Amino acid sequence: MTDISPHYPVLMDEVLQVLNPQDDDVIVDGTFGAGGYSRHILEASNCNLLAIDRDPNAQQAANQMATEYGERFKFLAGQFGDMQALLATQNITKLNGIVLDIGISSMQIDQGERGFSFQKDGPLDMRMSSAGISAADVVNHFSEADLARIFYILGDEKRSYPIAGAILRQRVDKPFETTLELANLIENTIKKGKSKIHPATKVFQALRIFINQELNELVKSLNAAECLLKPGGRLVVVSFHSLEDRIVKKFLKSRTGNLSAPSRHVMALEETEKPSFTLINRKVITATKDELDANIRSRSAKLRAAMRTDAEMFGEYFNPLPKMPQLDV
Ligand SMILES: C[S@@+](CC[C@H](N)C(=O)[O-])C[C@H]1O[C@@H](n2cnc3c(N)ncnc32)[C@H](O)[C@@H]1O
Repeated sequence: MTDISPHYPVLMDEVLQVLNPQDDDVIVDGTFGAGGYSRHILEASNCNLLAIDRDPNAQQAANQMATEYGERFKFLAGQFGDMQALLATQNITKLNGIVLDIGISSMQIDQGERGFSFQKDGPLDMRMSSAGISAADVVNHFSEADLARIFYILGDEKRSYPIAGAILRQRVDKPFETTLELANLIENTIKKGKSKIHPATKVFQALRIFINQELNELVKSLNAAECLLKPGGRLVVVSFHSLEDRIVKKFLKSRTGNLSAPSRHVMALEETEKPSFTLINRKVITATKDELDANIRSRSAKLRAAMRTDAEMFGEYFNPLPKMPQLDV
């Protein structure tokens, strides 16, 4: 029997403060999970909330919330990158707030059978939605160069080539099926050194981000937010990974007219254009000491929030990170 700990909603007080939900607002929680954020938002005002999650397991907590909050709460199964299409099914085109708590939940990590954890044996899966290509498909079929690129860029794993090479040699004899097969191979391939983290941490993180196309989803959701939020509407993003935070930070810099070095991917505002967002918090918000003591997972959480202005949409924001291999085998 898997021991599943409930998900602790990270930076909850700070999220409520910057989101500032009001009666009759229409708000999207794009990462419903166990419903921690959704519940607090619904309790903070008499607003209406649409919750999105791609994990079929989220449905159970959503059913419970629907019985408690009635018409004020609606669950939409799917990806937050597709929120415009999901909301269109409910005839909703404008919002007062969007909140995203990016990444995976404690329940997902704790369920060994989902394949997210290098500490629990299970199928090498890692799909949040339980559909599409699994981590095993990638590990067993991608080229050495593509694997190394995924590990290096999405995991910041400096020993990406030795690990990718070892994977290719091992899979000739027997394709990878389980999390521990991969974790043990990595442990045997690279020296732990002085690092406190498990040698497989970065590769597992990279595979998870890749399989679930997490960075592309984030980029799509930022574009959707610019389109969906009413003037005065609030965008609140909590991220746990430096690449995610960089994507949010660059988006907000470009949309608030604060981009010092425009690039091919991220355009600056023309002089005639007005910013489409203003920052709610100028400095990124992180966990207080009390929260860190209560929940170690809040250690890497970063909160950024901005308010939509009445300016026109600025145009598409592209993923500013290096290109990744295609997700097919
Ligand atoms: C960190 S948890 C959110 C926890 C939630 N705030 C709470 O208080 O319970 C992230 C959740 O977002 C979901 N998720 C991640 N990426 C997603 C995406 N692109 N579309 C929809 N759901 C996503 C995951 O399945 C997971 O349940």
